[in-house]
Amino acid sequence: MDNIKNITITEENTKTYDIVFDTDYTPLPDMVKELAPKADKILIVSDSNVAKIYLDEVKALFDLKVYTFVFNAGEANKNEETLKEIINALYEAKFSRSDVILSLGGGVVSDMTGFAASIYMRGIKHVICPTTLLSMADASVGAKTAIDYNGKKNLIGAFYNPSLIYMNLSTLKSLPSREYYAGFAEIMKAGLIKDDKYYMWLIDNMYEICEKDPETVAKMLYTAINIKKAVVEKDLYETTGERMLLNLGHTIGHGIESVLNDEYIHGECVSLGCVAAAYISSKLNYIDSDVYYEIRDMFVPFYLPISIETDKIDEIINAVYYDKKNALGKIRMVLLNRIGDAFVYDDVSEELVREALDELNFKEEG
Ligand SMILES: NC(=O)c1ccc[n+]([C@@H]2O[C@H](COP(=O)([O-])OP(=O)(O)OC[C@H]3O[C@@H](n4cnc5c(N)ncnc54)[C@H](O)[C@@H]3O)[C@@H](O)[C@H]2O)c1
Repeated sequence: MDNIKNITITEENTKTYDIVFDTDYTPLPDMVKELAPKADKILIVSDSNVAKIYLDEVKALFDLKVYTFVFNAGEANKNEETLKEIINALYEAKFSRSDVILSLGGGVVSDMTGFAASIYMRGIKHVICPTTLLSMADASVGAKTAIDYNGKKNLIGAFYNPSLIYMNLSTLKSLPSREYYAGFAEIMKAGLIKDDKYYMWLIDNMYEICEKDPETVAKMLYTAINIKKAVVEKDLYETTGERMLLNLGHTIGHGIESVLNDEYIHGECVSLGCVAAAYISSKLNYIDSDVYYEIRDMFVPFYLPISIETDKIDEIINAVYYDKKNALGKIRMVLLNRIGDAFVYDDVSEELVREALDELNFKEEG
């Protein structure tokens, strides 16, 4: 951790928020005081798993009036009912705009709490304490907040900057392995879209990453976040197309996630989506088939899926069509020119998406 500095996210060269790397929560209350000097209340929102491990510890640190809201863990609760309960908790406790709401948990907590923060009194300060690899590397950074609606991922949301992201890297110790590796998919994605050297570094440090070696994990996160920072600062509100690159693996990935959500978690769907995008890139002759196989096989040592077994391909294709990133009914996807260089391709044919899904779909003869 010694050579890892904080990262600052800027908008038009003005600081919007810091991302702090630490290994415990001790300095957090002073930082919150500095950014919200008039606050006399804080609402900590967490999910049932994270609350069990960290809520008491975090609660005890603040000398503000501390309120808590805990919901049942899982994507299925990232919905309008839980959102309404968060808003209600703020309302019942008479929170004002000078008070603070704090997310303690993974991307489900911060996406939903961030959205609540953006709409309560037209905006209240939001501090994110991410506790999953995925939320540290990706979900907490870049101001996207949302809830799912009618089974559609992230349909209702807003761009809303947090006031602070405070990462206590020690929380990764309690993260279940499956969740840790799912987070790794977004990290591989960062290398694939922007930085071939980082991608190679990830492969070279595979053992240390899998063992959660603290120095290696801190370095890994530091670079992944800086890649995301460079992209979002160029295109904060997803208007120029640059930010769309972060969706590598997400078009087909979200389609799979909508239909097979009982089987796969978000990061696993990103892994499958990246494999499909690499396959399509090779079929359109942007990368060689060898490079496709190399990309596909690199997810395996990190325990990420590279195949599915389903008879719901049509449903997945429908879900891909529905994806809100698609312009005018065309399937718009992020593809690869090479490892470390992604681009947006506006018109992938349905046949090619089907072929990529068939390539993923592995059915044992029985
Ligand atoms: N806003 C964005 O830019 C963005 C980017 C990527 C993903 N996302 C969203 O993030 C969500 C996925 O986030 P996630 O993978 O963090 O899922 P999550 O928040 O559901 O957390 C995963 C699981 O790990 C548990 N957990 C979390 N931290 C723990 C810890 N330290 N120890 C033990 N258990 C812990 C949680 O209770 C949960 O069961 C999805 O909803 C996705 O759409 C948002």
